[in-house]
Amino acid sequence: MKTACIFDLDGVIVDTARYHYLAWKRLAESLGVGFSEHDNEALKGVSRIESLKLILKLGGKELSAEEFDAALARKNAWYLEHIHKIGPEEILPGVIEFLQSVRARGMKIALGSASKNALLILQQIGLRDHFDAIVDGNKVSLAKPDPEVFLCAARELNVPPQACVVFEDAVSGVQAACAAQMAVVGIGHAQVLHQADFVLPNFLGMDIAAVLAKLK
Ligand code: BG6
Ligand code: MG
Repeated sequence: MKTACIFDLDGVIVDTARYHYLAWKRLAESLGVGFSEHDNEALKGVSRIESLKLILKLGGKELSAEEFDAALARKNAWYLEHIHKIGPEEILPGVIEFLQSVRARGMKIALGSASKNALLILQQIGLRDHFDAIVDGNKVSLAKPDPEVFLCAARELNVPPQACVVFEDAVSGVQAACAAQMAVVGIGHAQVLHQADFVLPNFLGMDIAAVLAKLK
């Protein structure tokens, strides 16, 4: 029986994935590395440090430890320029109604995100109080596809992994949920997220009862 839902943040709850992309693109280009939306797919769900390593690999570049840290700080500052301007209008379509349906069914709700900015974003969009547990990049050290973030969320909710349904827009996140032995609903394109149990384009018109029926 499923008793809990774990939501990724960026690209699932809120439309921040494009701000990550814009900030990484700006950073990559400042380092002389070309960076497309296609390249960006591999960064989704991945931690800040691992993302920069992927960009450097893409461009065949190397940075000293100091340059590496400075590049991370620059990217985050550019990203936060966008984040400080966002509000509830950036919540993705159908998300609030979906969260309400989960709550109405008596299920628990956690956030499972790699982002160190997760709490700030939840506060900016006014959704902090919808979550029973928040596991973010400040709490875990192993990046998705490692299952740590979702296993930690299940522990905080006090439910077994098999009782959880994860919602993810990233390939690495879907893989992390599978590795945690959790059911996983992809949010996005089925061709990209083919390892999910099933994929929805977004939450519009969906509720948890419909998701649970599809998982049977
Ligand atoms: C994930 C995003 O949720 O968080 C990644 O999908 C991002 O794109 C990662 O790199 C880390 O986020 P932050 O906010 O700590 O840089
Ligand atoms: Mg995401």
